[in-house]
Amino acid sequence: MCHPLRLGIIGAGQISQGAAKEINEDSRASVVAIADPSPERLEALADTIGAGLRFASGEELIAADGIDAVYVAVPNIFHARLAKLALEAGKHVILDKPFAMNLAEAQEVAAAATASGRVLMLGMNQRFKPSAQLMRARVAAGQFGEVYHAKACWRRRAGIPRIGSWFTQKGISGGGGLLDIGVHMLDMTLYILDNFKPLSVSGATYTKLGNQGLGSGGWGMSEVDPNAVFDVDDFATALIKLEGGVSVALDASWALHQAQANTDEVQVFGSKAGGLANAGEIYRFAEDGGYQVLQGGEKNNLPPTVSGNRFSNFIGACLGEHPSEVSVEQALAVQAIIDAIYESSASGRDVAIKI
Ligand SMILES: NC(=O)c1ccc[n+]([C@@H]2O[C@H](COP(=O)([O-])OP(=O)(O)OC[C@H]3O[C@@H](n4cnc5c(N)ncnc54)[C@H](O)[C@@H]3O)[C@@H](O)[C@H]2O)c1
Repeated sequence: MCHPLRLGIIGAGQISQGAAKEINEDSRASVVAIADPSPERLEALADTIGAGLRFASGEELIAADGIDAVYVAVPNIFHARLAKLALEAGKHVILDKPFAMNLAEAQEVAAAATASGRVLMLGMNQRFKPSAQLMRARVAAGQFGEVYHAKACWRRRAGIPRIGSWFTQKGISGGGGLLDIGVHMLDMTLYILDNFKPLSVSGATYTKLGNQGLGSGGWGMSEVDPNAVFDVDDFATALIKLEGGVSVALDASWALHQAQANTDEVQVFGSKAGGLANAGEIYRFAEDGGYQVLQGGEKNNLPPTVSGNRFSNFIGACLGEHPSEVSVEQALAVQAIIDAIYESSASGRDVAIKI
């Protein structure tokens, strides 16, 4: 290709502000087009980033010439439709999380990707963090022995994206904190364990604080409807069983009565040691019978699986330099688990997963 990869951004909301800059920081790509039905947000981002092509809808951007790939960052209800349309139009797609409103929709997008031969990548940014990369390398190198359990959490005390925005309306978002931030920690954990083979799930989701008007955070640029009913989860918990006798406990809250403003961490427990990903610590019984807490320094020279961020990885995949680091199969497994958590909560029973 004699020109940089030409990217169009669908959705000029909050996440796209930083994303547009990250894409343009990669010399192999350039943001040439923006689409958003809000003229103010469209013009503001297009001006900031210097994108000449401007569209009032994702559909128009997808139909336009001169665009090789799209980043889809819109309310969740539009994810599957726009990703599918873009793939069918021969464009590569990086789709922000969550994959879709549910597994059936996600599978339709996956089928469109296979048929098109274009790259479809979920924009799971957490797994590109150096701490996640190091933890994955440590697990793969056997530093924890047999890893049999992981605890993953992203618990915010008051982090509901603005109450009344699309995020808090189930018909547009598909779900609350579990789908919004639980998905990140679930993905990061399965990536660290290198195990995307779920067998069953027991989950519970709750709507207890947002519906009282408590726990609102500041995220999101879309309009707020003061009359909208808050009908999504503000706390979710699950026990997920994976192939190989491995279990994962997951907590995700947008709002919770807890001391810390924010806690996000993945902890693994193995036969030789345990460890915390973000803290970069390892815990184990020492040979002298004592107990060791090893700070991040030890064996930090393990190579990461990938370097760069989600966009540089996507760009490399579009240019045929390597496969994308987030495979469609992995993304489908994550969506299947999330569906199963909601189903288990509604039915009060364990849910078996077959994908
Ligand atoms: N990876 C992450 O860490 C992360 C963080 C936040 C949000 N997200 C995801 O990014 C997506 C967008 O979130 P946000 O925080 O930017 O929301 P936002 O509400 O700030 O912005 C959404 C934008 O999409 C626009 N839009 C709505 N329908 C559209 C359509 N059909 N075509 C084009 N534009 C349309 C809206 O006008 C708005 O400007 C969501 O799917 C969200 O889950 C990811």
